[in-house]
Amino acid sequence: MEHDEGAGIERVLFTADQLKQHIADLGAQIAKDYAGTSPVFVGVLKGVLYFMADLSRQVSMPLSIEFISISYFEGSGEGVRITKDLDRTITGHQVVMVEDILDTGMTLHYLLEYLRVRQPASLKVCTLLDKRARRLVDVTLDYVGFEVPDEFRVSYGLDYSERYGNLPFIGVLRPEAPDAVPAPIPPPLSL
Ligand code: IMP
Ligand code: MG
Repeated sequence: MEHDEGAGIERVLFTADQLKQHIADLGAQIAKDYAGTSPVFVGVLKGVLYFMADLSRQVSMPLSIEFISISYFEGSGEGVRITKDLDRTITGHQVVMVEDILDTGMTLHYLLEYLRVRQPASLKVCTLLDKRARRLVDVTLDYVGFEVPDEFRVSYGLDYSERYGNLPFIGVLRPEAPDAVPAPIPPPLSL
């Protein structure tokens, strides 16, 4: 097929069915832990789009969804900048930070500090993928879909240069796929 994005994928790591099963389990656990409350799920655009949509539909209780957008800037300084803030207050709410993948942990570390200042009643983290081998800052993860080795993954929201994010499974790019070069290391952050 001309323009078949799937042709750039070398290997499928998690099929759509495997993702669905794991996400159903995560959702059931969250629903149990948050029974009787109305948590706020906070996700970082755009990578979390598919995971947030599927996870929230597996949690059968009242909840609200908020998104935050960030951009990284090169060089020294804070490293991360908020480009779209939360639309509603989270003060006094039970907050679950929802992430697609945790790599060095720096993004999440920054965002957790940012959210904590707003004094939520509680703040927990749910990530679909945990690339633990690359961790540079220690962050506590409460719900983890899959622990994965140090490889660059695409699809199901994970993009490479804005591409390969819109496939229903998680895979690894062919080295010869358009734009398939090693993952950029995030710029250093002063923590
Ligand atoms: P961290 O700050 O190093 O933990 O980076 C986390 C962010 O880097 C994720 O939210 C993704 O946007 C991106 N990222 C890290 N590893 C991958 C990957 O394997 N595929 C796609 N994006 C990734
Ligand atoms: Mg992300």
